[in-house]
Amino acid sequence: MSSSTRFKGEKCWIVWLMVTSLYLRSTLGQIVQNCPSRSEIAPCSCIVKKQGLDVVCEFTDFTHINKAMSVLKGRPNTIIYYLKLRHNNMPKLQGFVFLGLDIHHLTVHNSSLAVVEETSLSSIGKGLTQLDLSQNSLLVVPSAALKTLHHLLILNLNYNKISAIHARAFEGLDTLEILTLYENKISVIEADAFKGVDNRKLKRLNLGGNELNSVPTSALSSLEMLKKLEMQENRISTIQKGDFAGLKSLDSLGLAHNKLQVVPAGVFSHLTQLNSLELDGNKITHIDPDAFIGLEEHLQYLRLADNKLHMVPSDALRRLHRLRHLDLRVNNITVLPEDAFAGYGDSITFLNLQKNLIKTLPPMIFENFNSLETLNLQNNKMTHVPEEVMETVIDTLQVIDLTDNPLICDCELQWYSNWLKNLRDKDDEVMTKKRTVCTMSNEHREYAVQNLPLDRMGCQPIAEEKSSSGNLAVKLVGLQFVITVSFVVLF
Ligand SMILES: *[C@@H]1O[C@H](CO)[C@@H](O)[C@H](O)[C@H]1NC(C)=O
Ligand SMILES: *[C@@H]1O[C@H](CO)[C@@H](O)[C@H](O)[C@H]1NC(C)=O
Repeated sequence: MSSSTRFKGEKCWIVWLMVTSLYLRSTLGQIVQNCPSRSEIAPCSCIVKKQGLDVVCEFTDFTHINKAMSVLKGRPNTIIYYLKLRHNNMPKLQGFVFLGLDIHHLTVHNSSLAVVEETSLSSIGKGLTQLDLSQNSLLVVPSAALKTLHHLLILNLNYNKISAIHARAFEGLDTLEILTLYENKISVIEADAFKGVDNRKLKRLNLGGNELNSVPTSALSSLEMLKKLEMQENRISTIQKGDFAGLKSLDSLGLAHNKLQVVPAGVFSHLTQLNSLELDGNKITHIDPDAFIGLEEHLQYLRLADNKLHMVPSDALRRLHRLRHLDLRVNNITVLPEDAFAGYGDSITFLNLQKNLIKTLPPMIFENFNSLETLNLQNNKMTHVPEEVMETVIDTLQVIDLTDNPLICDCELQWYSNWLKNLRDKDDEVMTKKRTVCTMSNEHREYAVQNLPLDRMGCQPIAEEKSSSGNLAVKLVGLQFVITVSFVVLF
């Protein structure tokens, strides 16, 4: 007992010594950072940040920037935490421009940069963790200049004019975690393009906004650690089984705004860790019943909005028993069969069917939903929403949007009327903005749904106090729903 206590005490002592010496070393080693005077580095400016200097040079040229760098070079032990060169005229980053400087985050943005000389960055490889060369005129990845940046974590090449990624373009960037190439002109990615950053740290890759016609499978397949792959806004017209082989850690895949028409069987079967899949804004008409094989255990977010689907792809969805968020808005769905959500709806919390052509909701359509919180049916063709349709989901729902449907006022809407009356006293912005009306066809006039003349309509009043099974009005009392309903009449 006592020996173990003493042992513990010794361990504490050693840890204390280590911590103290580390602390002393770091405080002693830290030189207080000072900016050069304003006139020395003008037109650049400098402020002192906690971790070092923050130097900004804007709307100037290389000569002035080079002069400011010389001043900084004459001040040993200076840490430049941020060097931001923006909106300059600087077509070339010359060799040795930063020699002797300790720069951690370097930005050269919107400066017509086209050439990055090999020796321009090599001298700052020890400290550089972030490099932003966005919105310039680069035609190729400046690989020779990058290859000694062994501590780089983030490389941003967005908004340049790169048309091809050649083999080993990023070799040497052993620690790179985020690579983003959004909005270039990339149509070719060679098979070994990512050799050197593969099987290492790369977690996020953005290839969006380019000119890819197909998935660059052979280049991607060795990115075993990749979590997020963005390929939205390209020209990909087909995907096939095997396209995503090797991406075994992938968590999120973005294929929105491409030209896909078909989602074939097994195409994502290698992506067993996938949590989020974005397929919105394509031209998808067909989803194979086996399209989502492999995604059973992890897929939670599925975006299929803005396609050309004629029906809910129920057979494909049925295996996705973890699905939480299903977005089918802006499609061409006209009919919802009774079993549209059978066998997989129980985990769904968010369902969007906005802007389709749905006329009716079958009575048991939401029978399997146990967790539905948000239901959007805005802008469809529904004339009736019977009480029994909502009955199974009413306890969990927090938001329902039924605006922009040609609903007809009748006794079936009584539950709705009561529901809205319940909400009237609550602060609901959406409610107060959208006046909730419906039209009585025989009177050719509109009514606010809360003010339906139920007695004149000859409706049997719903008992509000008595508890009878299946009485929705009773269930509604005390629940805090946010419901927006407006009835739009097409005449
Ligand atoms: C880019 O820089 C130029 C000056 O070189 C400036 O006039 C222009 O407004 C900048 N563009 C953007 C989008 O910031
Ligand atoms: C939507 O579906 C209908 C038939 O169900 C068809 O006539 C129409 O052309 C489709 N619209 C689009 C945009 O696909």
